Amino acid sequence: MSKSQEQTEFKLSAETLAKIDGFIEQYPTKASALMPCIWAITDELNHVPLDGVKLLAEKLEVTIARVNEVLSFYTMYRTEPQADHVLQVCHNISCHIMGAPGVIAHLEKKLSVRKGESTPDGKFRLEGAECLGACGNGPVLQLGKHLYEHLTTEKIDGMLDDFKRGEIPRADTDRELEE
Ligand code: FES
Repeated sequence: MSKSQEQTEFKLSAETLAKIDGFIEQYPTKASALMPCIWAITDELNHVPLDGVKLLAEKLEVTIARVNEVLSFYTMYRTEPQADHVLQVCHNISCHIMGAPGVIAHLEKKLSVRKGESTPDGKFRLEGAECLGACGNGPVLQLGKHLYEHLTTEKIDGMLDDFKRGEIPRADTDRELEE
Protein backbone atom coordinates (compact mmCIF):
# COMPACT_ATOMS: atom_id res chain seq x y z
CA MET A 1 0.00 0.00 0.00
CA SER A 2 1.38 3.40 -0.93
CA LYS A 3 1.80 6.11 1.63
CA SER A 4 -0.85 8.28 0.01
CA GLN A 5 -3.34 5.38 -0.01
CA GLU A 6 -2.66 4.76 3.66
CA GLN A 7 -3.24 8.42 4.46
CA THR A 8 -6.57 8.65 2.63
CA GLU A 9 -7.80 5.43 4.21
CA PHE A 10 -6.99 6.38 7.80
CA LYS A 11 -10.13 7.61 9.44
CA LEU A 12 -11.29 7.55 13.01
CA SER A 13 -14.91 7.79 14.10
CA ALA A 14 -16.17 10.98 15.70
CA GLU A 15 -16.60 8.95 18.89
CA THR A 16 -12.93 7.91 19.01
CA LEU A 17 -11.76 11.45 18.25
CA ALA A 18 -13.99 12.73 21.05
CA LYS A 19 -12.52 10.11 23.39
CA ILE A 20 -9.00 11.26 22.54
CA ASP A 21 -9.93 14.90 23.12
CA GLY A 22 -11.57 13.89 26.39
CA PHE A 23 -8.41 12.15 27.61
CA ILE A 24 -6.35 15.20 26.68
CA GLU A 25 -8.66 17.34 28.82
CA GLN A 26 -8.71 14.84 31.67
CA TYR A 27 -4.99 14.18 32.11
CA PRO A 28 -2.67 16.67 33.82
CA THR A 29 -0.48 17.05 30.72
CA LYS A 30 -1.21 16.22 27.10
CA ALA A 31 1.74 13.83 26.98
CA SER A 32 0.45 11.82 29.94
CA ALA A 33 -2.73 10.93 27.99
CA LEU A 34 -0.73 8.86 25.52
CA MET A 35 -1.63 5.36 26.71
CA PRO A 36 -5.42 5.85 26.90
CA CYS A 37 -5.29 7.57 23.52
CA ILE A 38 -3.46 4.57 22.06
CA TRP A 39 -6.20 2.34 23.51
CA ALA A 40 -8.89 4.56 21.97
CA ILE A 41 -7.44 4.02 18.49
CA THR A 42 -6.78 0.33 19.19
CA ASP A 43 -10.37 -0.17 20.32
CA GLU A 44 -11.61 1.08 16.96
CA LEU A 45 -8.98 -0.19 14.51
CA ASN A 46 -7.42 -3.12 16.36
CA HIS A 47 -4.01 -1.47 15.88
CA VAL A 48 -2.40 1.96 15.58
CA PRO A 49 -1.25 2.64 12.01
CA LEU A 50 1.40 5.18 11.10
CA ASP A 51 -1.17 7.92 10.55
CA GLY A 52 -2.56 7.22 14.01
CA VAL A 53 0.93 7.66 15.42
CA LYS A 54 1.22 11.00 13.62
CA LEU A 55 -2.20 12.10 14.86
CA LEU A 56 -1.30 11.31 18.46
CA ALA A 57 2.07 13.02 18.17
CA GLU A 58 0.35 16.15 16.89
CA LYS A 59 -2.53 16.16 19.38
CA LEU A 60 -0.37 15.33 22.41
CA GLU A 61 2.51 17.55 21.33
CA VAL A 62 5.07 14.77 21.61
CA THR A 63 7.46 13.38 19.02
CA ILE A 64 6.58 10.52 16.71
CA ALA A 65 9.51 8.67 18.31
CA ARG A 66 7.85 9.02 21.74
CA VAL A 67 4.58 7.50 20.48
CA ASN A 68 6.49 4.67 18.80
CA GLU A 69 8.53 4.12 21.95
CA VAL A 70 5.40 3.47 24.02
CA LEU A 71 3.71 1.47 21.25
CA SER A 72 6.67 -0.86 20.91
CA PHE A 73 7.34 -1.23 24.65
CA TYR A 74 3.99 -2.76 25.61
CA THR A 75 3.14 -6.17 24.20
CA MET A 76 -0.60 -5.42 23.96
CA TYR A 77 -0.19 -2.62 21.44
CA ARG A 78 0.07 -3.24 17.69
CA THR A 79 1.09 -1.17 14.71
CA GLU A 80 -0.18 -3.72 12.17
CA PRO A 81 -3.64 -5.29 11.79
CA GLN A 82 -3.91 -8.24 14.14
CA ALA A 83 -5.99 -11.33 14.73
CA ASP A 84 -9.32 -10.77 16.48
CA HIS A 85 -7.98 -12.29 19.70
CA VAL A 86 -4.26 -12.18 20.49
CA LEU A 87 -3.58 -14.62 23.30
CA GLN A 88 -0.29 -13.75 24.98
CA VAL A 89 0.86 -16.39 27.44
CA CYS A 90 3.57 -15.31 29.83
CA HIS A 91 6.56 -17.61 29.37
CA ASN A 92 8.79 -15.95 31.93
CA ILE A 93 10.33 -17.83 34.82
CA SER A 94 7.53 -17.77 37.44
CA CYS A 95 4.83 -18.70 34.95
CA HIS A 96 7.14 -21.27 33.39
CA ILE A 97 7.54 -22.99 36.75
CA MET A 98 3.77 -22.75 37.37
CA GLY A 99 2.93 -24.55 34.10
CA ALA A 100 3.06 -22.08 31.18
CA PRO A 101 4.64 -24.65 28.82
CA GLY A 102 1.63 -26.95 29.30
CA VAL A 103 -0.77 -24.06 28.74
CA ILE A 104 1.01 -23.07 25.54
CA ALA A 105 1.10 -26.69 24.32
CA HIS A 106 -2.63 -27.03 25.02
CA LEU A 107 -3.46 -23.84 23.13
CA GLU A 108 -1.24 -24.92 20.24
CA LYS A 109 -3.15 -28.18 20.05
CA LYS A 110 -6.62 -26.66 20.39
CA LEU A 111 -5.98 -23.86 17.89
CA SER A 112 -3.79 -25.96 15.55
CA VAL A 113 -1.08 -23.30 15.51
CA ARG A 114 2.41 -22.94 16.94
CA LYS A 115 3.35 -20.13 19.29
CA GLY A 116 3.88 -17.04 17.12
CA GLU A 117 1.25 -18.07 14.56
CA SER A 118 -2.32 -17.02 13.77
CA THR A 119 -5.21 -19.27 12.82
CA PRO A 120 -6.01 -19.17 9.09
CA ASP A 121 -9.40 -17.52 9.77
CA GLY A 122 -7.65 -14.64 11.54
CA LYS A 123 -9.59 -15.21 14.75
CA PHE A 124 -6.69 -16.11 17.08
CA ARG A 125 -3.01 -15.46 17.42
CA LEU A 126 -0.93 -17.26 20.03
CA GLU A 127 2.11 -15.49 21.41
CA GLY A 128 4.54 -15.82 24.27
CA ALA A 129 5.04 -12.74 26.43
CA GLU A 130 7.53 -11.60 28.99
CA CYS A 131 6.44 -11.02 32.60
CA LEU A 132 2.93 -9.57 32.72
CA GLY A 133 3.24 -8.43 36.31
CA ALA A 134 1.09 -11.14 37.87
CA CYS A 135 3.80 -13.63 38.81
CA GLY A 136 2.02 -14.87 41.94
CA ASN A 137 -1.02 -15.88 39.89
CA GLY A 138 0.67 -17.80 37.11
CA PRO A 139 0.42 -19.14 34.61
CA VAL A 140 -1.21 -16.04 33.14
CA LEU A 141 -2.45 -14.99 29.73
CA GLN A 142 -3.16 -11.49 28.45
CA LEU A 143 -5.85 -10.66 25.92
CA GLY A 144 -5.81 -6.93 25.26
CA LYS A 145 -6.78 -5.30 28.55
CA HIS A 146 -7.83 -8.59 30.13
CA LEU A 147 -5.67 -10.87 32.25
CA TYR A 148 -6.48 -14.55 32.90
CA GLU A 149 -4.73 -16.12 35.86
CA HIS A 150 -4.07 -19.56 37.39
CA LEU A 151 -4.53 -21.11 33.95
CA THR A 152 -5.24 -24.81 33.58
CA THR A 153 -6.22 -26.83 30.54
CA GLU A 154 -9.81 -26.86 31.84
CA LYS A 155 -9.83 -23.10 32.18
CA ILE A 156 -8.43 -22.72 28.66
CA ASP A 157 -11.15 -25.03 27.31
CA GLY A 158 -13.79 -22.92 29.05
CA MET A 159 -12.32 -19.77 27.53
CA LEU A 160 -12.33 -21.28 24.05
CA ASP A 161 -15.98 -22.30 24.55
CA ASP A 162 -16.79 -18.69 25.41
CA PHE A 163 -15.06 -17.50 22.24
CA LYS A 164 -17.06 -20.03 20.22
CA ARG A 165 -20.24 -18.47 21.61
CA GLY A 166 -18.96 -15.07 20.54
CA GLU A 167 -18.23 -13.99 24.10
CA ILE A 168 -15.06 -12.62 25.64
CA PRO A 169 -14.23 -14.85 28.62
CA ARG A 170 -14.60 -13.17 31.97
CA ALA A 171 -11.17 -11.95 33.04
CA ASP A 172 -9.60 -12.34 36.46
CA THR A 173 -8.16 -8.85 36.18
CA ASP A 174 -9.22 -6.09 33.83
CA ARG A 175 -6.81 -3.39 32.93
CA GLU A 176 -9.60 -1.13 31.71
CA LEU A 177 -8.69 2.49 31.89
CA GLU A 178 -11.03 4.94 33.51
CA GLU A 179 -12.86 6.97 30.91
S1 FES B 1 6.51 -14.38 35.27
FE1 FES B 1 4.51 -14.51 34.41
S2 FES B 1 3.52 -12.76 35.16
FE2 FES B 1 5.55 -12.55 35.93
